[in-house]
Amino acid sequence: MNRDIVCIGAGYIGGPTMAVIAKMNPDRKVIVVDINQGRIDAWNSDDYELPIYEPGLVDVVKEVRGKNLFFSTDVEGAVKACDIIFVGVNTPTKMFGRGAGRASDLQYWESTARGIKGYANGDKIVVEKSTLPVRTAAAMEAILNDHAEHRFTVLSNPEFLAEGTAINDLVSPDRVLIGGPQDEVGIAAIQEIVDIYATWVPREKILTTNVWSAELTKLAANAFLAQRVSSINAIAGLCEATGADVEEVARVMGADHRIGSLFLKAGPGFGGSCFKKDVLNLVYLCESFGLHTAAEYWDGVVKMNEHQQERIVSRLIKEMFNTLANKKIAVFGFAFKADTGDTRETPSGVVTRHLDEEHAHVVITDPKALPNARKDLADITGKSSRIEFEEDPYKAAEGADAVLLMTDWKIYPSLDWQRIHNSMRKPALVFDTRNCLNREALIKIGFKVLNVGK
Ligand code: NAD
Ligand code: UGA
Repeated sequence: MNRDIVCIGAGYIGGPTMAVIAKMNPDRKVIVVDINQGRIDAWNSDDYELPIYEPGLVDVVKEVRGKNLFFSTDVEGAVKACDIIFVGVNTPTKMFGRGAGRASDLQYWESTARGIKGYANGDKIVVEKSTLPVRTAAAMEAILNDHAEHRFTVLSNPEFLAEGTAINDLVSPDRVLIGGPQDEVGIAAIQEIVDIYATWVPREKILTTNVWSAELTKLAANAFLAQRVSSINAIAGLCEATGADVEEVARVMGADHRIGSLFLKAGPGFGGSCFKKDVLNLVYLCESFGLHTAAEYWDGVVKMNEHQQERIVSRLIKEMFNTLANKKIAVFGFAFKADTGDTRETPSGVVTRHLDEEHAHVVITDPKALPNARKDLADITGKSSRIEFEEDPYKAAEGADAVLLMTDWKIYPSLDWQRIHNSMRKPALVFDTRNCLNREALIKIGFKVLNVGK
């Protein structure tokens, strides 16, 4: 068995994870493959215009690309060349048939597994890097090992990085999780993967479990994080109604070390490609096993999130004299969080669609996410000329009735808000859904200010 690594899937997970693994394992060859030629070309581009924006990623890629990190569309060649195969393909929510809207769509995973089986020229370790429903490894083993010439051992090594901090999360993880069969072959395979991480991660942070625990831990961890966001947003609504301040409540609650201070920031609700999909997947799993009350409980986390975005629009309409028709609203931020260009499931997208339904004139500005914003909204921008995209936040706000801040990009608090106020139609409103601007300073300038949870 050789030590070289292939990762199938060159997306937000495959690219950064393998770049760091290659950097930390200079003696191993790491090949990242994808069926998307455009993505691979971007990873290989001379000017390092990588397909995803992630702080610090370009530096790591510059260091290792062409040395021991390679990007290619030759899936067959890479599977033949490497005995350790990570699979980081997408696992979106299934939109058809049984489990539509909740279950994971595993067609990309299954076709990848069948490809691996067809191309393999020896025994392989197949590592689930994608987030998958519990017991997917069993299905994969069944496909891979049925009438196979070679033996495939399937492990689960879910990834916990968050976008925007991916490189730091990979370089200094809280933990690395590797699940595998608890027999002799499985334990040896787990050790192979432990060795990859042990070149830089302290051994006590590399946790090993059985496969099912590893698969479930990933879903459960995302569900707990999403649940905290929904919980604090549920409290935020109550703060607005009672005069309490959600930031004060969160600060004091978070001082209790049993609760902890992280993930208590009220806002427009969680976005990103995974929280909603993974919670819904957990709901589906609970239902499949007859755990209907548990399913309802987790479903509430997603419902609360959707409610939060509806609440933001309702408050805006109320504050703007019950009509948004033909009013100009500058949406500051389209990425689902700061420091990423990713717009999957972004609250900004949901809110923009509501504003469009209200016939508002929406101008979206974002430092990194405008290309994705244009793609996401293509279905409504085709018909409607009311939505515009503008890189310069000052221009976006010119003549606007309101600035709706949706993403907490660091540049926004340091903008010249007096200049923005001067250029807006009066009364000028700022709705800071991230509570990241200086509220008192804005009021002093003359803005009417709305926040979440205040
Ligand atoms: P992504 O869509 O950015 O990337 C997936 C890539 O897989 C795409 O480039 C696609 O072309 C490729 N692909 C699909 N089928 C293929 C095939 N048969 N052969 C080769 N390539 C194929 O998705 P992502 O955000 O990287 O997420 C991937 C998985 O990782 C998901 O299960 C997700 O839940 C999990 N995950 C993502 C994050 C994150 O921050 N994005 C964090 C932790 C876990
Ligand atoms: C999340 C998890 O944090 C990662 O551990 C996990 O690996 C990843 O999902 C995944 O499986 O894809 P990510 O979605 O990239 O990472 O970003 P987060 O920082 O978790 O933020 C998710 C959403 O929650 C964002 O929209 C963010 O703005 C929101 N959020 C987060 C809040 O509204 N309040 C908070 O206090 C924290």
